[in-house]
Amino acid sequence: MKVLVLGGAGYIGSHAVLALREKGFEPVVLDDLSRGHRAAVIGAGLIEADLTAVDLAAVLKESECGAVMHFAALSQVGESVSRPDLYYRNNVAGGLLLLDAMVKSGVRYLIFSSSAAVYGEPSRVPISEDHPTAPVNPYGATKLAFEGAMRWYAHAFGLRYASLRYFNAAGAHPDGLLGEDHRPETHLIPLVLKAVLGDCPMAVFGNDYPTYDGTCIRDYIHVCDLASAHLLALQALLAGEPSSVFNLGTGRGYSVLQMIETARRVTDHDISIQLSPRRPGDPAELVAGSRLAGERLGWRPRYPELEDIVTHAWRWHRAHPEGYPA
Ligand code: UFG
Repeated sequence: MKVLVLGGAGYIGSHAVLALREKGFEPVVLDDLSRGHRAAVIGAGLIEADLTAVDLAAVLKESECGAVMHFAALSQVGESVSRPDLYYRNNVAGGLLLLDAMVKSGVRYLIFSSSAAVYGEPSRVPISEDHPTAPVNPYGATKLAFEGAMRWYAHAFGLRYASLRYFNAAGAHPDGLLGEDHRPETHLIPLVLKAVLGDCPMAVFGNDYPTYDGTCIRDYIHVCDLASAHLLALQALLAGEPSSVFNLGTGRGYSVLQMIETARRVTDHDISIQLSPRRPGDPAELVAGSRLAGERLGWRPRYPELEDIVTHAWRWHRAHPEGYPA
């Protein structure tokens, strides 16, 4: 079966494309390359287009795709606060165009990249899927808005979906084929590794959180484990399973200081720390309760160890200090 991968040139989408290929699907990537990279599309055709400016129903028909994976969204929390217009246009209005195109072309199966950001500041951890949703930034709000639209379109028009709420996507393909390259980079692991490569200090945003060492705790989930969850979710839908929402994390949290210590070990390089003020909007602790994905999809992270996640990321960053080629 052919699968349209919107945003397949991005960090998680590109890993999902490889996973689709490995399982015998034929991925077709549509990406405007505004945030993604041509060199990250391996083993799939690339349609270079903006999903808000293309006839998606025609793309679905002509490419003969039977399902969609939707990664094509803006994903920087800070940017979403200063430019909510961009986030609502891309993530919500763009998403609605996709839903309309799926209804028009009769494509029923959709796997959606959602986020832990839909929960906002959690009232309890680990966070299970039934935790109240109360996003604290436009990024999380747009992910939740699209989830709502998807649910009602499914109800009215017979679409079937899996919404995958990622915790902190991390790591890189273990063979060094693909990695993480955001511009600008805001994420902890690539920034720590860039600090190693550039021999610069690493900023730690706040050490007065109510956690065991005062720094924020996150649940880092290997990008290949996210990709495998997409495959399992798609296979479940194709086998007749109902639409669902799943959290994806390991269920274990690590602090910023633990992460930096792991990077020290993996790279065998000293990393000096520059204590900085808290970053606005950072919850103290986000850890996933993702039992549901295990029970319903048979999903088990293959690389739950932080050491493996950082080792794989380091492999890619050391080989690509400037990121993907243009
Ligand atoms: N951090 C630093 N220094 C840095 C960069 C990050 O101390 O230079 C800290 C952050 O303050 C945070 C932790 O490292 O405590 C992780 O930060 P990331 O930016 O890597 O990831 P976030 O937890 O902020 O973001 C993730 C996803 C988002 C999602 C969000 C939900 O990347 O897509 O979780 O809150 F919206």
